[in-house]
Order: sequence, then C-alpha cells, then structure tokens
Amino acid sequence: PSLLESIDDLSLEQIEVLVSRSQHFKNNPQLSPFNTTPKPIIATSFLENSTRTKHSFAVAIRRLGGLYLDFNAETSSLKKGESLEETFLTLFYQGVNLCVFRSSVSNQLAQFKDAPPIKLVNGGDGVNEHPSQALLDLFTLLELSPDLEGKTISIIGDNIHSRVAHSLMKLLPQYGMKIILSGPKEFLPDASTLPPNVELSTNRDETVKRSDFIYLLRIQKERHADSNNSDDHYLETNGVSLDLLKKLNKLVPVLHPGPANIGVELDQALIKSSLYKGYLQVENSIPMRMAIIEAMLLNNDSNIGRINGEKF
Ligand code: CP
Repeated sequence: PSLLESIDDLSLEQIEVLVSRSQHFKNNPQLSPFNTTPKPIIATSFLENSTRTKHSFAVAIRRLGGLYLDFNAETSSLKKGESLEETFLTLFYQGVNLCVFRSSVSNQLAQFKDAPPIKLVNGGDGVNEHPSQALLDLFTLLELSPDLEGKTISIIGDNIHSRVAHSLMKLLPQYGMKIILSGPKEFLPDASTLPPNVELSTNRDETVKRSDFIYLLRIQKERHADSNNSDDHYLETNGVSLDLLKKLNKLVPVLHPGPANIGVELDQALIKSSLYKGYLQVENSIPMRMAIIEAMLLNNDSNIGRINGEKF
C-alpha cells in the first residue's frame, strides 16, 4: 500500500511476503538494495516520544542504503499552524519518498486514505494502531515457533490504551492464534467489540496457565484521564514476575513492545532471564522495517502527491 495505517491495509499474502523478506534481510545483513542512484529519501516525523520505533526505522533506512531525514516537528512549520497535508506535500516535493509518522492523536492518517500526499507508515497513532510493531512481533513469534496455529498468546496489561494490542488482535488470528486480553477490568475493552479468536480475562494466574506466549504491556499513563493512580501493588496483582511463572510452572517466552517499566508490569529477574524476548523483538525490528520500507517503495502509486486530485 501507499499508506500503512492499519493491519487492515495488508492482505495475508502481503504479510507473508514481509515476513519472508524480513528473514532474508536477517540472514543476509550485507544486503543493501537501495545502493543505486538516486537513493530514496525516507523521513521520520515523530510528534510523540520514541526510542525503538524511530531509531530502528532510521537504522533500517541506512541498512537499505537509503538517505534518512529526521524531520523535527517541534522546529517545523507545523508549529506555525501548517496542516499535516501541506507538511507532507512539502516533504514530497522536496523529494522525500516516504515518511514514517507518529502522533498522540488516533486515526490522524485516515484523512489520507484515498489520496496520500506522500507514502506514509503509521509509527503509532494514539490508541489506534502500531502496525510495524505488530508485524515485527509476528516475525519474532514465528522465529520462536514456526507453526502458530492453535497457540495462545496472552496480552497482559493496559490493553485498552495499547495501539500494538489493537494491531496484534487483527494480525495474529490470521495465523491461527488465540488471544487472551488480560488485566484489571478498567484496562480491558468491551466484550462486544472483540474480533473472533479474542477473549477477555481479569484472572491473571488462569491466563498465564493457558498461555503459550505472554505479551506484557506498560501502563500508558500519558493516555489516562487520571494519571495519578498508584501502581505500587500492580506487580503483585496484575504484573508478571519470574517467580510467578515458576510457581505456575509456565516458563513460556515473554514478549514486550517496550518501553518496559521494571517493577510494574514485570520484575528485574524476568527481564534479565532468557524467557524475556524484548531484545529479540528490537533486533527483529530492523529486518521487518527494512522489508516494510522496501515493499512500500516498490509500489509505484501514481496517485501520490496530487493536489486536489491533480498532478502538480
Ligand atoms: N514499541 C515502541 O513503540 O517503542 P517506542 O515508543 O520506544 O518507539
């Protein structure tokens, strides 16, 4: 697609190509397909903080042989009231081929569904979706277990505010996985909104016992109306420690999109153990984001950069 806003923008066939291409990039780190002239220029435009997503896209762009532009929204004309569309059109006519965009506002890219001003990847938008994170999580899960059919993954924590949980719910059932969304009631969505193969549980221990994989989420206080709630006892009641996994006899892989809050959703012993796969996810983010950029740049969409439907 020209706009990767949601997992819904990809067919299963396209997802499988991304997984296979990621594996190819991981196996062949010397590959640099954009080492041609002119080199594509790819920008990141992050209106919300990031360590993993922004920098792994930057590394992926450089590994591909593309040119990286770090668009600083804070010092840009967005601050003078310029619209997002004008900003993206300006980048496009400066020769930027693709922009990875993050915002604290949900669905901000939906306005560009029919006519993207530039090729766009959603790097996380509010509580909506984080498709590139979900895709690299899928790649990691397949590396841990090549057949995911019938396996259960429990997503434990602040599900309602998690954009990656929303993308995973659309993605993993396509590979036959069952998902349990678990956490305190206030962190869970309405049961009537759940897609097939996704269920809810407020019972952490029962959830852990049924899990083939655990996926932990941070409490996203920046998205809470009341951010002063104490999380002093969260680890004992709702988090996951290495001792808990030992007690329940469930030494399964534990994933986390990061950033992790040690002492809240997990403990120091778990993050330092071999069960913790958060760093493997970070490692795998490079080949998957290389695959995403490559696929989007290969797509020759002549509708990009049109102004009022007309080519400039
Ligand atoms: N997983 C993730 O989106 O992390 P960052 O906020 O550090 O990019």
